[in-house]
Amino acid sequence: MPRLIVYAILISGLLALLPPAIIARVRATPDPNPPVHIFHDMDFQTKYLPQSENAQYADGRAQRPPVLGAVARGETYADTHYYDGVSGGQWASAMPTQVPLTMELLQRGEARFNIYCTPCHGYDGAGNGIVNQRAIALVSNAAGPVNGTVWVQAKSVHDETVIVQPIGQIFNTITHGVRNMAGYGSQIPVEDRWAIAAYVRVLQRSQNATPDQVPADRRAGL
Ligand code: HEC
Repeated sequence: MPRLIVYAILISGLLALLPPAIIARVRATPDPNPPVHIFHDMDFQTKYLPQSENAQYADGRAQRPPVLGAVARGETYADTHYYDGVSGGQWASAMPTQVPLTMELLQRGEARFNIYCTPCHGYDGAGNGIVNQRAIALVSNAAGPVNGTVWVQAKSVHDETVIVQPIGQIFNTITHGVRNMAGYGSQIPVEDRWAIAAYVRVLQRSQNATPDQVPADRRAGL
């Protein structure tokens, strides 16, 4: 084979390695600039991001509060009994009319309680759920609490101070939380929160029942 051809093959072989080498180099090198966009779609547009500034307004806020006197469409939240558990300026002592107390509702409440509340409060509501057991194990570690853990045990729903609470207050605790307990208003819909509150009443009743409240044919097993 003539020398010229051998050289040509060798050189073009080496040149063919260049593009992959350059691509690999670029891919491995950090670049502060955004990648090249051939199609912009709607990735870039003039808009105000949340919490940003807008000099147009005297207070400089881009996010505007509702205009005074604005009325929400659809739900108005004016029904304080249903939405806040408050009736006549006090904690409501009855279920709202939208949520009639039925066996179905209590079963729904039981299912929701078992999902959302048992990790801390336990299935009987006494406050010894699996999270509590784990936390107790961490804080009672022989060499001191793991990672400086502090723990407030979930309060028993059978505590005297909880038993006397009107159902609207229980509903409020589920919605907004209380002291060290977080609220579940954003996760559990209103009706389910009422169902859970009703089920808390079921638990309280069951833990403080007298033998004569047990159906006659079941008393023997006690
Ligand atoms: C992550 C743990 C945790 C979960 C889950 C939880 N709680 Fe609690 N709960 C607590 C703690 C802790 C307290 C006591 C707070 C304190 O005293 O600082 C408490 C207190 C309460 C109280 C007593 C309020 C009072 O007035 O003293 C009620 C009632 C209650 N929880 C109901 C519920 C219900 C119903 C659910 C389910 C929707 C629930 N909790 C889910 C941790 C939890």
